[in-house]
Amino acid sequence: MASDLLFSTRELLIGVATSSAQIEGGDRNNNWYDWAQMPGTIADGSSPVRATDHWNRWREDTALMAELGLQTYRMSVEWSRIEPRPGEIDRGALERYRDEVAAVREAGLVPLVTLHHFSHPSWFAGLGGWTAAVAPERFLALVEVVVEALGEYVTDWVTINEPNVYATQAYLFGEGPPGTRDWGAVRATLRHMTIAHIRAYRLIHRLQPDAKVGFAHHARVFAPLVERNPAHRVFSAVDRALFQDLLADAMLAGRWTPLLGRRPDDIAPGRYYDYLGLNYYSRSAVSGLSDGTFPGAPVNDLGWEVYPAGLVEVARDLHRRHPAPIWVTENGTADAADAFRSRFVFDHLQAIAASELPFERYYHWCFVDNWEWNDGEDPRFGIVALDYETQERTVRDSGRFLAHVIADGGVTQGTYDTFVAGQDYPSDPR
Ligand code: FCB
Repeated sequence: MASDLLFSTRELLIGVATSSAQIEGGDRNNNWYDWAQMPGTIADGSSPVRATDHWNRWREDTALMAELGLQTYRMSVEWSRIEPRPGEIDRGALERYRDEVAAVREAGLVPLVTLHHFSHPSWFAGLGGWTAAVAPERFLALVEVVVEALGEYVTDWVTINEPNVYATQAYLFGEGPPGTRDWGAVRATLRHMTIAHIRAYRLIHRLQPDAKVGFAHHARVFAPLVERNPAHRVFSAVDRALFQDLLADAMLAGRWTPLLGRRPDDIAPGRYYDYLGLNYYSRSAVSGLSDGTFPGAPVNDLGWEVYPAGLVEVARDLHRRHPAPIWVTENGTADAADAFRSRFVFDHLQAIAASELPFERYYHWCFVDNWEWNDGEDPRFGIVALDYETQERTVRDSGRFLAHVIADGGVTQGTYDTFVAGQDYPSDPR
């Protein structure tokens, strides 16, 4: 071990995370494409049809990951490509994904594949999407096809990405397709996603006894905006329970809550996870049911608070209730100037290294700048910069920083001085 390590990351596999709709481009058969066609939905009027053209440039992207020495890659498969019409499987699309995961392995990276990351076929949306009672069954059929096709190269799976964000965006805040506001639909979605996750967990283990299966839980810190204000304290606790804790207990442990309706007969309390998948970005300052930030807090380009200690806070809490190795399935920041991303990575990795918790993996969100849902092409989350016009990729300093950390097994003083020392977060102007 280099003697001048400020801290070691040797216990971690480090890589990047992406999702199909945000990078692939070209697909016009999914709910987010349809949503983006509606005027006023996407901040800059863009759509996922351009994105990073990864569908065609995956070889180049895989080579670049290998060049940076990344150890693992989290990606998702696009359901609408694999099953363009109900029951009709596109073998060519499956082959394309097979080639990619084979190449990822060949390049020395461990693939982690997400089976649902916000996007699905327009026909599935037409059935009512995840609010429909048939949703788990339709999803399970996809899972079986994908695991059979990719299982030679992939043993690590994320069933569903951020059920809580998906359900509230789609059916509470009107910020994602179909953009309605209907509490019953939120509950139905979470119910069906929980059932789907638990059944997928069992199905994948039947097909692949050694598989590692979990879901990517969006967890954040909820803190009262004013500590002395009893309403703020109550809302913090309620938000946290409603948005993340009750769902985690149901999905991970089959501990049912009346919010999800009647418990199906085949679902009993148990253990439906092999790792804890955690997507962590920020902290909310709570004064009611919606989000806020603390005045003057360090923030990213989208105004999200940068709060590295929170990663360990949420992980500790989840791990206490559901002990397992922790995989940070996403963590990253919008920083177009790459002015503080290296510090962001440094601070979060340092928090991990200093904790007593069994962190095993860290996936930085994201690799190449990608299509950020309603925020369009504007936010820059990548360790690799993208010129959308030419599709040219340019590794940012933060990408070089991450490469050094992996190569050295931690952060050396020299690497810190070169990449991190001069950086600071902007603060919230309010
Ligand atoms: C997460 C999503 C991911 C990306 C990041 C910034 O909530 O899972 O697709 O949009 O936020």
